[in-house]
Amino acid sequence: MTVRAIVLAAGKGTRMKSDVTKVLHELCGRPLLWYVIQALRAAGIDDVLVVTNPELQNRIDEFGVRGVLQGEQLGTGHAVQVALAAMTPSERGRIVVAYGDMPLAGPAIYRSIVDALDGDVPMTLITARMPASSNFGRIVRRGENVERIVEARDATPEDLRIEETNAGIYAFHEDRLREAVSGLRNDNAQKEYYLTDTVEKFVRGGERVRPILVEDAADVAGINDRVELALARREMNARLCAAAMRDGVTIVDPDTTYLEPEVEIGRDTVIYPNTSLARLSCVGTHCVVGPNSRLSNARLGDRVTVRESVIVDSTLGDGVQVGPFAHLRANARLAGGVRIGNFVEVKNSELGDGAKANHLAYVGDASVGSGSNIGAGTITCNFDGERKNRTTIGKNVSIGSNTSLVAPVDVGDGALTGAGSVVIRDVPAGERVAGNPARPLPKKEV
Ligand code: UD1
Ligand code: MG
Repeated sequence: MTVRAIVLAAGKGTRMKSDVTKVLHELCGRPLLWYVIQALRAAGIDDVLVVTNPELQNRIDEFGVRGVLQGEQLGTGHAVQVALAAMTPSERGRIVVAYGDMPLAGPAIYRSIVDALDGDVPMTLITARMPASSNFGRIVRRGENVERIVEARDATPEDLRIEETNAGIYAFHEDRLREAVSGLRNDNAQKEYYLTDTVEKFVRGGERVRPILVEDAADVAGINDRVELALARREMNARLCAAAMRDGVTIVDPDTTYLEPEVEIGRDTVIYPNTSLARLSCVGTHCVVGPNSRLSNARLGDRVTVRESVIVDSTLGDGVQVGPFAHLRANARLAGGVRIGNFVEVKNSELGDGAKANHLAYVGDASVGSGSNIGAGTITCNFDGERKNRTTIGKNVSIGSNTSLVAPVDVGDGALTGAGSVVIRDVPAGERVAGNPARPLPKKEV
């Protein structure tokens, strides 16, 4: 038995009032559509076809699925017709249909509707209790089964009093779905071909359509405007924080801690408020992160401390201490025990074990050996107006306060620069230099 999915996402989402198509809007760092595809995959459904508009079709490869363009949006039933025409028929196949704007529905929901399909049940669907003001379609039941779905805009006042609504997640036997959508008509308030009209066709043919009521309507909240987007973000973030806390992470204030779905945090790490961990950030055990920090694609070893700092696309070894007020970016690589203090920027540089830059420095395109100390106010002058040049600093080097290292330049192991040096030539190992331009010092003068 193969299970494939069709995700409807061609709608522009006019209520977003946006130049960006709705399902590409982000929630906790990922597009809405990403969550739907992720949940389907987690439910074991890898073969996913997305019904797109031109903007989404251009970006569909990012999601690792196929897309099919729906030229004109004539309704959910029409969108499914377009999708089915682009799929090779599979005998005894099953098809899940979902909407691309429901990021909070987890894999269990998709599994439950597929499992509920059987010989004389050609269609199952998820229902949820919603307030009377909802514009979701209403479920008209006959006993245990669904008799029909009435769209809010076609509903009588009596229909509108029904609390059980159509979430917009369905499973079908493929052959039955192909047959049912081929004969849909658009004689309704919106002049659209409704996928939901397939219910009546099955019922008229003597078949049963089985509803599965979700306990928590929040799981099937659709996103139509930016207020709903913000509410869903809060819910998703709360779930991500709860999962991390259950795995042994202390989050002091989940309301002001912002996580993303692929972030990993080790046990006994403590996250202080106003802190975000984004993209593929990965934090080890027994770390302290925050308050007021932003990590994006940051990889931290164990026992790392990051206070009030920004770390982007960088890697920190065990026991590193950063901040307050530091900025590490563009492949900064700090080995174990490195200490980066206030107002220090490190960009595309590596610092060896135990190296330090404690105050007010710019370390860019540099390599700093283990045990070296970068004094306050040191600048690697890496840009000569045309290109970026590298600075190499050996092991156990002492760079004096306010040194300018005019790259390309090498400072050998054990060397020293005096305060205020402007280093324009390589400094051999063990040598002491000072001045502008820096010159070797007689040993006793230092
Ligand atoms: C639909 C359901 C309604 C359900 C509600 C839940 C129908 C007829 N109605 O209504 O019963 O309660 O969802 O959210 O299905 N789309 C396309 N192509 C189209 C039309 C729509 O891809 O031609 C996509 C949209 O991008 C959207 C989804 O299908 O992701 C749902 O379409 P929408 O028009 O929002 O349907 P609703 O009125 O919300
Ligand atoms: Mg909708």
